[in-house]
Amino acid sequence: MGVIMINDLIKSTNLISVPSEYAFPAKPEDLNMLSEKEVEHVTLPVIDFSFLSSPGERSKIIEDLRDACQYWGFFMVVNHGVPESLKKDLIDSCMSFFDLSPEEKSAYRGKYKLDPRIVLDHGTNLNSGVDSVSFLRDQFKACVHPIFGSPPKPEGIKVKKKKKKKKKTNKKIDLHEILCEYTKRSREIMKELLKEIMEGLKLDEDDIEKSLELNSGAQIFSANLYPPCPQPELAIGLPPHADHGLLTLLIQNDVDGLHIKNKEKWVAVNLIPNSIMVNTGDHMETLSKGKYKSVLHRAVVNNKETRVSLVMTVGSSKETDAT
Ligand code: SIN
Ligand code: FE2
Repeated sequence: MGVIMINDLIKSTNLISVPSEYAFPAKPEDLNMLSEKEVEHVTLPVIDFSFLSSPGERSKIIEDLRDACQYWGFFMVVNHGVPESLKKDLIDSCMSFFDLSPEEKSAYRGKYKLDPRIVLDHGTNLNSGVDSVSFLRDQFKACVHPIFGSPPKPEGIKVKKKKKKKKKTNKKIDLHEILCEYTKRSREIMKELLKEIMEGLKLDEDDIEKSLELNSGAQIFSANLYPPCPQPELAIGLPPHADHGLLTLLIQNDVDGLHIKNKEKWVAVNLIPNSIMVNTGDHMETLSKGKYKSVLHRAVVNNKETRVSLVMTVGSSKETDAT
C-alpha cells in the first residue's frame, strides 16, 4: 500500500478543517507556544561570502561571523556562488517528488533503500511512533555524504507532468543529479564558513583540523513541504527543535514560515533574495564550549501557499564528537 502524506490528503479531499491527528497542541503546555504565532519580523546578520577571498575583508567577516553566532546562532549568506537556477531546479525536483502518487513514492523509497549507499526516507513525523501528533509537513531525507555521490547513479523515475497545452508527457526527475551538485557546492560553503568560525573561536590548530575533517561526519539533506492549511492556528509544520550538527544551511521558496527563538522571544525571519540561511547546531555548541548556542526554531503553516524548505546539515567528524 502507498504512503499517504499530508500533501496528498489536502489535495485529494479539499479539507476545510485540520484532521484530528494533525491538530496541535498535543499537550496543554504547548498552547502557549501557539499563541505566539503572530511574531515580530527581524532581519538577520548578513555575511557576504565573496569577501572571504579578499584578504583585506576577511578579518572583518570573521568578526561578523563571531557576533552572528554568538547573538543569533543564525545568519544569512549572500554572494555564496550557488546559482539561482540550481536552487530553483532543486526546489522543483523536490516538489515533483512530493507530487508523485503514494504508490510511486513508495516505489521510489523501496528502490533507493535497496541501494546500501543511499538512505532515502520520507514521512510526516519527526519521530515516527513517538510523536503523538503528526506535523503538517511532508519530508524526505537523504544521507548525501559520505557515499551519496558515488557511481553508479540510480535511475530517475518517470512522473506524469502536465505541459502547457494540457498534454500529458513523461518527465524524468533528475533529483539525484541536482542534489549531488548542490551537495558539492553547499559542502564548499560549509567548509569555508567553518574555517572562519573556528578562527573566530580561537581554537587551537588541532581542534580546527579535527573539526574540519568533515569526511567522517555525515551530511544530511532534507526537503520539507508544508501545504496550505485550512486552520493554520491549529497545526504546526515543525515544532521547536535545535539541529544536531555543526552547521545547517537552509534555502526555501519565497514563502514565510521559519521562526527562531531569540532572547526568549519567537521572531520571524525576513527573507533576503538569493541568500542561504545558516544556523549553528548542537555539535557547534559543544565545540565552542557553549559559546555558540544551538538555537530553537520552528516552522509554522499558513492557509494560502505551499512552503518548501531545503535543509543541509553537516556534522562534525567522529573524532571531534568524542572530545
Ligand atoms: C528545519 O528546521 O528542519 C526546517 C525549518 C524550516 O522549514 O524552515
Ligand atoms: Fe531545524
